Amino acid sequence: MEFFETAFVVSAHRLDQLPQDNLPEIVFAGRSNVGKSSLLNTLLNRKQLVKVSSRPGKTTGLNYFLVENAAYFVDLPGYGYAKVGKDLRTQWGKLITSYLQTRSQIACVVVIMDLRHGVKHLDSELLGWLRQHGVPFLTVYTKADKLSGNERSRNSSLLDAGHGLRPDERIIFSATSRLGREPLIERLQTIAGI
Ligand code: GTP
Ligand code: MG
Repeated sequence: MEFFETAFVVSAHRLDQLPQDNLPEIVFAGRSNVGKSSLLNTLLNRKQLVKVSSRPGKTTGLNYFLVENAAYFVDLPGYGYAKVGKDLRTQWGKLITSYLQTRSQIACVVVIMDLRHGVKHLDSELLGWLRQHGVPFLTVYTKADKLSGNERSRNSSLLDAGHGLRPDERIIFSATSRLGREPLIERLQTIAGI
């Protein structure tokens, strides 16, 4: 499956800069440097549409990409990098927490985690918050290319158990090998009606 029409729309730093056309939004969230922007490039099949860096903190603002004139994919800055506070709100900023709280057209938050790492406190906090507020979410375990088959199954079981996720609530992914791209696209198409 390919997305043929994709375009960068805006990098918003205030809520009043967000698009006003009410299209469904798929939001990509996760720790800094986990691979959110790389995942978007892989999904959209564009090498450099979304800016990627080996240094954490590359994405700033809410970056909107229009897909097939039917939905927005929103790339968020990562959390867990700046040492400004322990909880999600101080770390990630008021802009993003109030966006998630007030934006009714959010169809799904894709929470991305590194398959090599264990359960991280801020990821648990975000999932807890999404569950509490009834925001639909899907989790993606990325950078799978860096692990063997055995390590993939072991680590994904640990993350499933640690976050209380069913296997149908997560997809194992790699931006490098494109593992998981098709199942993820299928899920997002259904969710956003693209
Ligand atoms: P911030 O915007 O800073 O929060 O980072 P991000 O989550 O958008 O991460 P980004 O996509 O910029 O990728 C961070 C680094 O991880 C880059 O060096 C990528 O090349 C690398 N990377 C991302 N996804 C994968 C993957 O699936 N496999 C491998 N091997 N490397 C990856
Ligand atoms: Mg990024």
